[in-house]
Amino acid sequence: MKLASGQVAVVTGAASGIGLALAQAFAARGLSVVLSDLRTAEVQASAAKVAAEYGVATLAVTTDVRNAESVEALAQATIDRFGRVDVVCNNAGVMGPMGPAWELDPAVFRWLLDVAFMGVVHGVQAFVPRMIAGGRPGHILNTSSMAGLRPTPSITPYGAAKAAVVGFTESLRVELSMNAPLISATVLCPGYVPTDMGASSRQTNPADVVLAPLDPSPTDNGIVVGSGMTLEDVSSAALAGIEADQIHVIVYRGGPYDHDVRARVQSVLDDLPESSS
Ligand SMILES: NC(=O)c1ccc[n+]([C@@H]2O[C@H](COP(=O)([O-])OP(=O)(O)OC[C@H]3O[C@@H](n4cnc5c(N)ncnc54)[C@H](O)[C@@H]3O)[C@@H](O)[C@H]2O)c1
Repeated sequence: MKLASGQVAVVTGAASGIGLALAQAFAARGLSVVLSDLRTAEVQASAAKVAAEYGVATLAVTTDVRNAESVEALAQATIDRFGRVDVVCNNAGVMGPMGPAWELDPAVFRWLLDVAFMGVVHGVQAFVPRMIAGGRPGHILNTSSMAGLRPTPSITPYGAAKAAVVGFTESLRVELSMNAPLISATVLCPGYVPTDMGASSRQTNPADVVLAPLDPSPTDNGIVVGSGMTLEDVSSAALAGIEADQIHVIVYRGGPYDHDVRARVQSVLDDLPESSS
């Protein structure tokens, strides 16, 4: 679909980082933007900033994407304010403690999957019926990660949630093409980009997930890899991917990503059984 002034974009996890960059990129194209996040003061400040910078209408909505009713209220608030919804970016995510999968508390897996995967499911269930009812072209952009396309030792909850977002979006796309062909879906897979996810995760973690104080020094542990990518690189690739109706938007600079993804895909091809036909 072509992005244009008069349309409405919704972004979850929009208080900072990639979500805010997406909101700014939509606003730069003249779209009205609904910014939603669990952090109320931060998302209100970000919505005011986007409105002032780009002269578009914005709406800030406090939303917990883990909760279906909260995301339903976000969808209704969008329709109540703007009367339509054209693009929905299911982007909220968190980073949990690191360690081998067998040592991590199951609560960590639940939290990561609730935010990063169920948040996407709730977004699709709340918004797609309203987009279908609107009768206009629409697009869903689900934020995964390069962690959804390659092994992620020491952050298996994160990698599992992000792999789920990839698989879910690929299937959703086919379902939409069969049942609601005006609407499509894309999965966004960025490599590492500096954001405040470590700090924001420490503001939004549930009581049963304990996080050690933030280590501000960059590490080379297989998570923080590549360099020089900016938030604008991610948001401009995402908007171009929506307009080109790409299945995946894969965006990174440097790092082992190219090697790791090719090796993973090749391993699947190598393990396919011989055709019996
Ligand atoms: N930064 C990276 O290197 C990177 C790379 C690939 C993918 N991602 C993904 O991009 C997305 C945005 O992350 P970011 O790096 O911009 O970090 P960020 O912390 O700036 O943004 C994430 C936002 O999600 C919000 N959030 C957390 N729990 C929530 C909940 N239950 N309901 C609603 N909002 C909630 C946070 O308050 C925060 O504003 C995430 O899905 C992340 O996994 C990040």
